[in-house]
Amino acid sequence: MRVDEIDRDSVDHVLTTTRAVRQRLDLERDVPLQIVQECLEIALQAPTGFNLQNWRWLVVTDPEKRAAIAEVYRRMLVPFLEVMEQESGDVDPTTQRVARSSWYLAEHLHEVPVHVIPCTVLQVNDDYSMFRQLGFDTDLTNMAASGVFGEVWSAGWSFMLALRSRGLGSSMTTIHLGGESEVADLLGIPEGVSQAGLIPVGWFTGDDFKPANRHPLHEVAFYEHWGNTEPAR
Ligand SMILES: Cc1cc2nc3c(=O)[nH]c(=O)nc-3n(C[C@H](O)[C@H](O)[C@H](O)COP(=O)(O)O)c2cc1C
Repeated sequence: MRVDEIDRDSVDHVLTTTRAVRQRLDLERDVPLQIVQECLEIALQAPTGFNLQNWRWLVVTDPEKRAAIAEVYRRMLVPFLEVMEQESGDVDPTTQRVARSSWYLAEHLHEVPVHVIPCTVLQVNDDYSMFRQLGFDTDLTNMAASGVFGEVWSAGWSFMLALRSRGLGSSMTTIHLGGESEVADLLGIPEGVSQAGLIPVGWFTGDDFKPANRHPLHEVAFYEHWGNTEPAR
C-alpha cells in the first residue's frame, strides 16, 4: 500500500480515541480466541530491541484463574486508591473519575472474558555489567527499565489499538504487579520472566470515544534545549 492510499483519518481516529475501557466492557459476550490472536499477531510488528523479541503473551480465559488474578488486583488497588483519594481530596474530579472507573474494573475483573498478561524474558535487575565494560558511564537503571519494558509495552499498545479497531475495549494496567509473584505462581511463569502488566479484554459496549484532554503540546514539547517551548524557526 502506498502512503497516499493509507486512510489516515481512520488511523488517526483510532490512535487518538483508544481510551482505557473499564465500565463499558461487555461482561457477558464471549471473545473468540482467534480475534485475540489476530491482534497479538499485529502487536508482534512493534519495535523490539535488536530484534530479540523478548516479549511473551499469556492469554488467560479460565474463570478460576481470572478470579484469582482479580483477587490479587483488588488487594493491590485498594490501598493505592486510598492514597490517591487522600492526596486529591475533593478538588480533582478527573482523578476521582479515574479512581471510580478503576474500582469498577477491579470489582468486575474476574468477569472480563480475557486477561492478557504481557511478559518479557528480561528483568530490570539482570546483569547489565557488559554495558559498563563498554564504557557506559551512566547509572544503568533507566537503560535497563527502558530496555526491559519499552518493547513489551510498545507491542501492548499496538495490541490495544488493534482491539479497538475491531470493536473491543481494553486498558493498560499495572497495579497487580504489587502481587506479581502470586500471579506468577498461579500461571507457572518461570523465574527470570517479568510481567509488564495486565490487559483485560472485552467487547466495547459504547459507540465511540473522543480524544482525551491532555496537557497541550506547547507545554510539554521543548525545542533544542530543555524548557524551550518555542521552536527557533
Ligand atoms: C504505566 C501505566 C499504568 C497503568 N495502570 C493502571 C492500572 O493499574 N489500573 C487501571 O485501571 N488503569 C491503569 N492505567 C490506565 C490509566 O489510568 C489511563 O491510561 C489514564 O487514566 C488515561 O486514560 P485514557 O487512557 O483513557 O486516556 C495505567 C496506565 C499506564 C500508562
